[in-house]
Amino acid sequence: MEKDILILGIESSCDETAAAVIKNGRTVLSNVISSQIDLHTLYGGVVPEIASRKHVERINQVIEGALKEAQVTLEEIDAIGVTYGPGLVGALLVGVAEAKAIAFALNKPLVGVHHIEGHIAANFIEHKELEPPFFSLVVSGGHTHLVKVTDYGEFEIIGRTRDDAAGEAFDKVARAIGLGYPGGPKIDKVSKEGNPHAIEFPRASITDAPFDFSFSGVKSSVLNYLNGQKMKGEEFNQADVAASFQKAVVDVLVDHTMLAAKEYQMKSIAIAGGVASNSSLRKAMKEACDKAGITLYYPSPIYCTDNAAMIGVAAYYEYLKGTRSGWDLNAVPNLKLGER
Ligand code: KG4
Ligand code: ZN
Repeated sequence: MEKDILILGIESSCDETAAAVIKNGRTVLSNVISSQIDLHTLYGGVVPEIASRKHVERINQVIEGALKEAQVTLEEIDAIGVTYGPGLVGALLVGVAEAKAIAFALNKPLVGVHHIEGHIAANFIEHKELEPPFFSLVVSGGHTHLVKVTDYGEFEIIGRTRDDAAGEAFDKVARAIGLGYPGGPKIDKVSKEGNPHAIEFPRASITDAPFDFSFSGVKSSVLNYLNGQKMKGEEFNQADVAASFQKAVVDVLVDHTMLAAKEYQMKSIAIAGGVASNSSLRKAMKEACDKAGITLYYPSPIYCTDNAAMIGVAAYYEYLKGTRSGWDLNAVPNLKLGER
């Protein structure tokens, strides 16, 4: 029998300090996440300085926790995978420095991972049959991309947002209607009590770029609506605004993804990123995929939002391909997908 390959994954690009141990690319032996959400909630969003400081305080404990839960020692690990971009530079640096120190001290291979490659790879954990090629809609707080995954770690970007990311729009609208941070899960929840047809918010398309997205218009339209109500001295219905906004975003995400999947004749779609845990998006994507004879995949919510298991999985496939990072690996806050 061949020896198992164990990867230690480390993630610190935003407001979660996370470490995980992955066996043979698809089995999660441990997945430890220390969230800072409570701290940032006080400020209505992620404060980069606080994020970096908390990562420094927590990273050793989180890694020790991941090793302990997986019942493996550092010596047994075959490679260290770490997110080196995109993200907040100070936050990324904590994970990168830690991964370099461990890899150097133990003379183990170091594999720098693109955060979005990690989000997409999260789909491999629970869907053992999923293999490239497939189509992916990546929707997170910082990114909205339509990607053709041609092979492990090989991507063709088909569409992207021209302005706000989908998650960013959720967070901003949530703040405007008094739901607070993080907005996505809160809008998801209150929308269940609201009427998605109560207010008609715009669904933006870009001429000549049918697979690109724009969410600044729908966000401004919500703000205008709220202002209009205020001027008239009228209340607004929080659940109706949330549900109508969510429907406008979900409609565009589903339409553009299905259009692209048909154009590129893809038979499977995997959604990824924090917004992929949105219940309305999952439902609408499922209906559209069933109708089109396309298989839909999505990770459990815990693997949709930031975690290190997905980084360990992506690192495993990069490790198999021979990808190795040097001791000069640095944080790259605006790293592009498919770049090294
Ligand atoms: O992937 P992620 O954890 O971090 C980034 O890489 O950005 O995504 C976080 C984003 C936030 O904007 C959050 O509001 C959104 O994902 N989100 C959701 C839901 N859960 C998280 N948006 C809509 N519905 C949800 N259920
Ligand atoms: Zn993320």
